[in-house]
Amino acid sequence: MSTQFRTEKSQGRAALHGVHSLDRFVFTVPDLDEAKRFYDAFGLDARSEGRQLDLYTFEHAHRWGSLFQAPGPKKLQYLRFACFADDLQPIRDRIKSLGIAERAPHPLGNDEGFWITHPDGYAIQVVVNYKSSPDTESVPLPKRQVEKGAGKAWNRKIAPKVRPRRLSHALMFSPDVIAATKFYEDTLGLRLSDRSEDVVAFMHGVHGSDHHLIALAKSNAGGMHHASWDVGSIDEVGLGMEQMLSAGYTRGWGVGRHVLGSNYFYYARDPWGSYFEYSYDIDFVPGDFDWKSSNSPPEDSFYVWGPAVPADFVTNFEVQPAAELPPDEAKKVSQAVASA
Ligand SMILES: [Fe+2]
Repeated sequence: MSTQFRTEKSQGRAALHGVHSLDRFVFTVPDLDEAKRFYDAFGLDARSEGRQLDLYTFEHAHRWGSLFQAPGPKKLQYLRFACFADDLQPIRDRIKSLGIAERAPHPLGNDEGFWITHPDGYAIQVVVNYKSSPDTESVPLPKRQVEKGAGKAWNRKIAPKVRPRRLSHALMFSPDVIAATKFYEDTLGLRLSDRSEDVVAFMHGVHGSDHHLIALAKSNAGGMHHASWDVGSIDEVGLGMEQMLSAGYTRGWGVGRHVLGSNYFYYARDPWGSYFEYSYDIDFVPGDFDWKSSNSPPEDSFYVWGPAVPADFVTNFEVQPAAELPPDEAKKVSQAVASA
């Protein structure tokens, strides 16, 4: 574990029991080689381990995501949230008092902490771990310094490869955004940052996090729409776009700027119809601050400037309503992983 991560909650929030980080996302894809090509091009440190692909950012010890190979469409398997040691039992007790039953560990997960099922069908694990979400607003990269008389823009030949610094958030599909939001509030202690009617909602952690570590968007079923990664400048958002276009990933959306959350963005579409987002300068909710949530009309919540949204941008390509592998398929995948 890296020493850069906080493991103790602050005094001011001692009475609040909530998860502090989206510790990991886990999904299956039909082709791990194709997956590795995409995440390498995106600038992540994608490490193959048998039939498993783990996603890291360079110079950061934390594993943000894991992918396994399974036939069919890309499919969200589970989300893992982390809390401080003091908070695990209170969160667990609160969930019990709500009458929500715990479940067995997901076949691709482990027995740390405890497990529940989100109403939208996917599994959630809650564990004690260090706080991988940020404690401060993202630090911008310093402006590029050049000799007097030289241009500040990169020459294409020497433009650096963009390497995102950390995970910011993930956006999940939900057939009932209001109910899904309430579930995260009641169980994990997340708070609503802002929403747009029943179409989209953004949630932060009470111990300090980006404006959203989880977002929810209306769809016909559960699933994962995108994972978003922090970069250090608007230039890096644009360079990231160019990096993906040059690598042959020509579908995406951006560059633009969101209204709710405020981040500059470019979304690169992955081979399965979902997205990885370069994000710069997202709003931050400090751990000692009660953010007042707003409800904005859909036409003024999504983006303030940017190109037209692709027609299928919010299509849920995880077509099956239950977001979990069938038991026989899960068994096959876990056996393959165990023997790898
Ligand atoms: Fe996002």
